[in-house]
Amino acid sequence: MTDKILVTGGAGYIGSHIVIELSAAGYAPLIVDDFSNSSPSVVPRLSEITGHDVPCVTGDIRDRRLLAGTLSEHAVAAVVHCAGLKAVGESESRPLAYYDSNIGGTIALAEAMADAGVKTIVFSSSATVYGQAGSNPIAEDAPLMPESVYGRTKLMIEQLLRDLARSDPAWRVALLRYFNPAGAHASGRIGEAPSATPNNLMPILAQVGAGKLPEIAVFGSDWPTPDGTGVRDYIHVVDLAEAHVAALAHLQRAAGVTTLNLGTSRGYSVLEAIAAFERACSKPITRRMAPRRAGDVAICVADASAARVTLGWVARRGLDAMCADAWRWQLHRDA
Ligand code: NAD
Ligand code: UFG
Repeated sequence: MTDKILVTGGAGYIGSHIVIELSAAGYAPLIVDDFSNSSPSVVPRLSEITGHDVPCVTGDIRDRRLLAGTLSEHAVAAVVHCAGLKAVGESESRPLAYYDSNIGGTIALAEAMADAGVKTIVFSSSATVYGQAGSNPIAEDAPLMPESVYGRTKLMIEQLLRDLARSDPAWRVALLRYFNPAGAHASGRIGEAPSATPNNLMPILAQVGAGKLPEIAVFGSDWPTPDGTGVRDYIHVVDLAEAHVAALAHLQRAAGVTTLNLGTSRGYSVLEAIAAFERACSKPITRRMAPRRAGDVAICVADASAARVTLGWVARRGLDAMCADAWRWQLHRDA
């Protein structure tokens, strides 16, 4: 029988791409999402792309009754847990909302899973758990010192899931630390659609390219990097989604907790990313050098070798593909 996989936050940017790759791998994904940061219009697009009906339960993961009903009604085999709040700046001004949604949501989900006997979970963690890393590339055993409320919720959820797995060996947990997800599905039908003005580099570049924003402010040109601008490990969202399929396969073989970085092991500066986006959209991107942004680091690049060894997975798509796909999505997103 086809395994049913519940994707919390499956209508969001990363979750929607995971739904597609799960379906392509022969799983039957279903979604729980409250659409607080996504649109219901994503769901029919997912059915169209996958060629299968993708069931979607509208609601909040903190609603225990809703989760219990969903897990039993659909006989779910495992959960990919993407739902949560993710804006670093907002987490500082609304800490309780972040603790409640991210940690409260995960507790409600884990309780409902335990009650239903579903004990396999893949969690969307973040490289933000490392904070100001001492050296790059960053391996999974680097010190964990998140610098924002958002980052602390991610680390606390990792700890919560580790404690759960220690209390009951039936749990199988993958903690996946994403570096900088970028790009969109090649169809141009789904992609990143933030409800507010974007804060991240790639969606801002797309909006500058489309004339919706006048320019990109480059946050710092005096970082200790080759061209003075910040260096990040951008990873194509489809590569990221494929890693979740590999993680689920791994959890069928491995009990306990698996913690992995998901990145490319290759960093690009802001100026290199702007140049790549200019190639993708065939237009100049107006930029303005600006002061450093509070909380930023010079370099954040993954040591992704553990994911290669453990999952047999590597990111295959490069920065040019990320920009081309993000641009295609920007052009077609309202169609
Ligand atoms: P997103 O906001 O596009 O997707 C999250 C989805 O969860 C949205 O559809 C939203 O409506 C839903 N949601 C939020 N709270 C919910 C709740 N309480 N109940 C039900 N649904 C809820 O974000 P994304 O970029 O797709 O990120 C997915 C996950 O990956 C998040 O946990 C995020 O912290 C993590 N992550 C993202 C990045 C990134 O740069 N995008 C980096 C590292 C980690
Ligand atoms: N940048 C600019 N101008 C902008 C936006 C970003 O120059 O308008 C620069 C940043 O300074 C940084 C790079 O582009 O050097 C990437 O910035 P993003 O905001 O796209 O990504 P971050 O690396 O800051 O953030 C990511 C995730 C967060 C996570 C954080 C820490 O989006 O969820 O990594 O790991 F918390």
